Amino acid sequence: MLDRLDQQPPDALLALIKLYDADPRPTKIDLGVGVYRTSDGATPVFGAIKAAEKRLVSDQPSKAYLGPEGDMGFVQALIPHVFGEAGDMGGRIDGMQTPGGTGGVRIAAGLAKKAGVAKVLMGTPSWPNHAQIFADLAMEIEGFDHRAADGTANMDALRTALKNAGKGDAVLLHGCCHNPTGVDYTPAQWDEIVDLLVEREILPIVDLAYQGLGDGMEEDAYGLRKVVANVPEALIAYSCDKNFGLYRDRVGAFYALGKTADDTVRIMSNGCSLARANWSMPPDHGAAAVGLILNDEALTKQWLDELDSMRARIGEVRSQLAAAGKAGSVDLTPLGEQKGMFAMLPLSKEQIGALRTDHGVYMAGSGRINVAGLTSGNIGDFVKALESVSG
Ligand code: LMR
Repeated sequence: MLDRLDQQPPDALLALIKLYDADPRPTKIDLGVGVYRTSDGATPVFGAIKAAEKRLVSDQPSKAYLGPEGDMGFVQALIPHVFGEAGDMGGRIDGMQTPGGTGGVRIAAGLAKKAGVAKVLMGTPSWPNHAQIFADLAMEIEGFDHRAADGTANMDALRTALKNAGKGDAVLLHGCCHNPTGVDYTPAQWDEIVDLLVEREILPIVDLAYQGLGDGMEEDAYGLRKVVANVPEALIAYSCDKNFGLYRDRVGAFYALGKTADDTVRIMSNGCSLARANWSMPPDHGAAAVGLILNDEALTKQWLDELDSMRARIGEVRSQLAAAGKAGSVDLTPLGEQKGMFAMLPLSKEQIGALRTDHGVYMAGSGRINVAGLTSGNIGDFVKALESVSG
């Protein structure tokens, strides 16, 4: 029976990690998977996390099971950072810990499916795992162009998609630092989106995976907070993997906004039963460290300072790329206005292949680059490599 299973290709993005590691060239450049890198090309553990982990080692009283909702101290401590004043909705918002932001998306998708959502609207391109999760649940996806030709958000396509949506369809929105394009909505665009969601009675699923890496913790939450303050119901996936640098520890959360506090209790009971059927309980360690940081003023400040310097470095790399202007046929100027770690370059499969084989530059097959993989030491070589393959 199991011999009926087709061979599945390895995940293309994650496979890049191994390909890059196996390349012996010292000049190779990793612009693949979305991890932050310092100006030395390293991905160190945050100082605030190291300090919290030390405390955990000495003080954590037990590792006994917590339950499918995980560490609710962590879940509650995140609420003011994620939702701000919109977090105080009289019991209409509640959450649970999930294994990474992916776990949050999985719970959101599972709940949407269980509640009868058949179709999910989604700006494309998107993070490949979004479509994979909805497809795994046999949910229909209707794509619309996320990015306009001038490198800003394609509001016409979004408006049309929302206006043509059926009552009760869902839309997947990236909270900030759009993955893979870096093209975010402005506050005015979010305001319009929220009006359309309310008017068309569309269920928003907001994935906020990079808070703090765009314009700041508060600024990057504008859209989510606007959504939550105005729509009757919403599903939210959150990741701490990037803004706390906890990638492999898989630290995320799922939050729901229900029409009433009673509805939220029922939504969360379904979330817990989906978690139990999927991973039973989330891993504790990373979330415990984040919870400890968020409940300690000095550690919170240390974490926010570290996050500020990450954001500043990403901004510097973006400015340097934008200042390079045209590299062959690729115009790097729009990267200066885009947000977060990612940008999409208009390159063919052949050009992406040549960058890898001839220049040791590793990027996703879609043309997505992780700008944090660039440093003042390699940015010039990267621009030259782009000129050479696309000139
Ligand atoms: C990425 O997009 O590179 C990250 O979110 C890693 C992942 O899981 O795809």
